[in-house]
Amino acid sequence: MSETERITELRELLHRYNNLYYVQNAPVISDIEFDQLMHELIDLEEKHPELYDANSPTQRVGSDISKGFEQAEHRYPMLSLDNTYSEQEVREFFQRISGLLNEPFEICCELKYDGLSISLIYEDGKLVQAVTRGDGVKGDIVTDNVRTIKSVPLVLQKGNYPREFEIRGEVLMPWTSFEKLNAEREQQEEPLFANPRNAASGTLKLQNPQEVSRRQLDSYLYYLLGEQLPFDGHYENMMEAAKWGFKVSDHMKKCTTIEEVLDYISYWDTERKNLPVATDGIVLKVNSLRQQRNLGFKAKSPRWAIAYKFQAERQLTRLNSVSYQVGRTGAVTPVANLDPVQLSGTIVKRATLHNADIIKGLDLHIGDMVYVEKGGEIIPKITAVDMDSRSILMGDPVRFADVCPECGTKLIRYEGEAAYYCPNSISCPPQIKGRIEHFVSRKAMNIDGLGTETIDLFYQAGLIKDIADLYTLKAMDICRLEGLGEKSAVSIVHGIEDSKKVPFERVLFAIGIRFVGETVAKILARAFKSMEALENATMEQLTAVNEIGTKIAQSIVSFFADERSRELVNRLKEFGLQMELTEDQTQGGTELLSGKTIVISGVFNHHSRDEYKALIERHGGKNAGSISAKTSFVLAGDNMGPAKREKAQELGIKLVSETEFLEMINEKITTITSNELLLPF
Ligand code: IVH
Repeated sequence: MSETERITELRELLHRYNNLYYVQNAPVISDIEFDQLMHELIDLEEKHPELYDANSPTQRVGSDISKGFEQAEHRYPMLSLDNTYSEQEVREFFQRISGLLNEPFEICCELKYDGLSISLIYEDGKLVQAVTRGDGVKGDIVTDNVRTIKSVPLVLQKGNYPREFEIRGEVLMPWTSFEKLNAEREQQEEPLFANPRNAASGTLKLQNPQEVSRRQLDSYLYYLLGEQLPFDGHYENMMEAAKWGFKVSDHMKKCTTIEEVLDYISYWDTERKNLPVATDGIVLKVNSLRQQRNLGFKAKSPRWAIAYKFQAERQLTRLNSVSYQVGRTGAVTPVANLDPVQLSGTIVKRATLHNADIIKGLDLHIGDMVYVEKGGEIIPKITAVDMDSRSILMGDPVRFADVCPECGTKLIRYEGEAAYYCPNSISCPPQIKGRIEHFVSRKAMNIDGLGTETIDLFYQAGLIKDIADLYTLKAMDICRLEGLGEKSAVSIVHGIEDSKKVPFERVLFAIGIRFVGETVAKILARAFKSMEALENATMEQLTAVNEIGTKIAQSIVSFFADERSRELVNRLKEFGLQMELTEDQTQGGTELLSGKTIVISGVFNHHSRDEYKALIERHGGKNAGSISAKTSFVLAGDNMGPAKREKAQELGIKLVSETEFLEMINEKITTITSNELLLPF
C-alpha cells in the first residue's frame, strides 16, 4: 500500500473510531491503539503536505459541545498535550527542553487526571463562569452544574489572588460515586457508564443541577492563567491557589534530573491504583512561566509540557463462546465467555459485548484471540481481535441470537434502540424473576429476605410464577426449601404481609410498567388517585397530565390492554394491596400548582423548607433546586442568596413571599401541622 493510500485508510478508520467513541459511546479499540493510529497519520501528513485536508481527523480536537447549553469563547484556547507511552520519548523531551533553554530548569511532575477539563473564571474572588473544553476555542457554559461540585470554591478564601483570573482543571467522578451510580443504573436497567470519565461527562451535561449534585462529582485544578499571577513558578502558583480554596493535588513534585522524573513515573504507575479517582498518566511541565513563554506553543499543544500515558491493562485471551443474558425488561445483553486471564488483580472469565453493533464492528469469530481491557472500567470489555493469530480454520462468525436463549421467542429490535428484546414478557423466566426482584426491592414493596437466589429457589420449586403468588406463600412451604430455616421463613411471610400497607404510588412503581419509574408513579398516583382510574385512562387523559408524554402514556395503555396484566392487578387488589390514595393523602391535595416548577430559597417563618417542598408536591407542583428559564416562580423567604436573587432578576422570574404562597394554595397558616405536611407527597 502506498503512503497516499495509507493516509486515506487511516483517515477513514479514525473518523469511524471517533464516532464510535464520542457519539455512540461504544469504543471498539483501546485509547493506545487510537493514539498510535493518530500518530501514524500525523507523521504521514507531515511528510505529505500536498495531501492536506481540513477535515482530516488530525485537524480537530474532539468536541464535547452539546445542544441545550449556551456557549462561551475561551480567553486562551484550551489546548491539549502531546502524548507518549515511552520512557525514551520522555528522555527526548527532557533533552529537547534542556537544549532549547540552555539554562537550569525544573520540571513539575503531576498526575494526569482522567475526567473532563473545565475552565473556571473568577472575578473579585467569586466564581463567575465554568466552561467545558468544547472544541478548544469555545465550550458549553455549565456554571450551574459546576456550582454543585463541593470541591469547587464559589467564593475564595482570603489571599492575594488576582482580581480576575482563570483556573483550569479536571472534573472527575470518584470511583465510589461511579460504582454507586452504576449499581443504581443496573437496578433500573439503564445503560451503564463504561468508566468514570464518561460518567462525569454525562453528568456535567445534565440539565438538572439537583441530579448533578446527587452524583457527587469532584475536581482537581492544575493550571492557573492570568495577567498578574503571584509567582513565576507553576508549582508555587498552584500551592498558592490551594490556599485560596482550590483542590490541588498533593502529589505534585518538582524535579531537576531525568532520573527523578522517571522515578516519579514508575512510582505512580502502581501507586495510582490506591487513589480515589481515575488517572491515566503523568504530566510533565517546565515549571518557570518565563521559560514556558520562551518555549512557546505548537499548533495544538505547548512545547513546555508532555503527557506520559500509562499502558491500559489488557490481556490476550481466547473467545470460547457468546451467551446472552435477559434482563427484567427483556433486553438481551451478549456476554463473551473467555479462557480465564489475570487482569488488574482479578481473574476475568467473561466480558460484555454491549450489543449487536459492537459484535459486528469487531468482526468476532468463535476461537478468536481477543484483547480484554479493564483500564478505567469496572466491567471488562473486548476491545479488539488479534487478526494475526487467526488461522484459516477460523471459527464461526458470532451472529447475534435470533431467539431468546431462555424461552425461544423471536427477538425484536425497537426503532432507534441498539438492544434486542425478548417480547415474551409474561412467561420468559428471567423476565418473571427480574420483575419479582424489582417488586420486592427497597424503593418498591421493600420486602426483606428475598434476594436473587431465594427468588430463584421459589421459582424453581414452583411456589411463585408471578408477583401476586408472593401473597400465597406459606411459612411451611418456604422452610421445606434448602437453606431456609423456620425463622427466615416466618420473617419473609411477615415482610410480605407488611407490604400490604405500602402506599399506592409505590405499588404502582412496583408492578413494573415500562417507563413508570418512581417519580412517574408518584405523578400518576396524584393525578388518577386509584389503579382503577388509571386502568381506564385514555391516551388523551394520560398525556394531559404534566410530564406524561406519549411514550409513557402508550406504555400504560398497552399494559392495561393486556388481559393478563389486568388479572394480575386484580389479584393484588384481592390480596389487600393499596390500590388508591388514602384519605390522608388526598385530603387537602389540589392541582393549584399543577405544571408549576418552583424553587425554594431563603428561610421561612411558618414552615421548614421540607414542609414547603411537601406542600408544593401536595398541590401538584414540582420543586426544583436551581433557577432556570423553566422556573415558574421562586418561593422567597428571608435572607435569599444574592446569586439566586440576581439569577431570578436576570431571567425575569417572579419572587413570591411566604404569605403570598400560602394564600395561593388557600392554606390557613395556623391549621397546618408538620406531621400532616410530611405525608408521602
Ligand atoms: S495541563 C496546555 N495538567 O489532559 C496544557 N492537563 O491531553 C494544559 N489533564 O485537556 C493541560 N491532568 O483535560 C494538565 N495535571 C494535568 C492534567 C491535565 C489531566 C488533561 C486535561 C487536558 C488533557 C491534555
